[in-house]
Amino acid sequence: MNSFPSCIGIFDSGVGGLSVLKALRQELPQENLLYFSDSAFAPYGERSEQEVVQRSEHITATLIQQGAKALVIACNTATAAAVHHLRQQYPKLPIVGVEPALKPASISSQTRQVGVLATQRTLSSQKFANMLQTCSHNCHFHLRAATGLALAIELGEQSQIKNLLIEHLKALGKFGHAPGQIDTLVLGCTHYPLVIELIQELVGPTIHVLDNAPAIAKHTHVLLKNNQKNSPLGVSANAGGICYQTSGDLKKLQQFATSLGL
Ligand code: DGL
Repeated sequence: MNSFPSCIGIFDSGVGGLSVLKALRQELPQENLLYFSDSAFAPYGERSEQEVVQRSEHITATLIQQGAKALVIACNTATAAAVHHLRQQYPKLPIVGVEPALKPASISSQTRQVGVLATQRTLSSQKFANMLQTCSHNCHFHLRAATGLALAIELGEQSQIKNLLIEHLKALGKFGHAPGQIDTLVLGCTHYPLVIELIQELVGPTIHVLDNAPAIAKHTHVLLKNNQKNSPLGVSANAGGICYQTSGDLKKLQQFATSLGL
């Protein structure tokens, strides 16, 4: 069933990965992109690690069956839980994972105080603990599991999104540039950049809000180049196409993508 040959397979628990898909579209305009949104099983952040691993393995197998030559796990939660298993299972497949941008944040923060919003599953993962340990020597990280936020974004519930953001940002601490204040905010879930304007409005225009989607897209480009598999399909009518699939409502997913200019 090689229905979308030579594509990059991308998946997330829902619409969040569209923020990564958009960056990939800009970075790699000639590549076919096959996006899978696992909406029927969202949010991953409130599921067990085992469930997230199982869904990630199932979706990856489906994407490969359809012709994926590389995989982008456009989800911090699935990356933390499953990237290690997937790399073991598919040692020849280029796999890009998404992680909260702790290192870039620790480098750019002047106050050495960084806020991190992510799902509970990401924050409680071993992978995150390891990353935090590496970056914490010269910077203090304020962590907050933004429970409910990914789902509210998934469902497009505007007032709920705003209320949850106010609550979670307040819990992180004081934002600003005085000593002890948070001057940098890491968006550790791919759903959150979809409401980045609102987040910026709430924390103030001078706070550095980090979305690492462009860096992920660049990394994917380099990885494909290194694997010498990034030759554009050229004559194929499908080159540069995007195909959407979901375990949920396809029409809703397509509408969401269109609203993002995809
Ligand atoms: N978008 C996902 C992430 O980056 C997960 C959100 C969720 O399903 O909880 O972590």
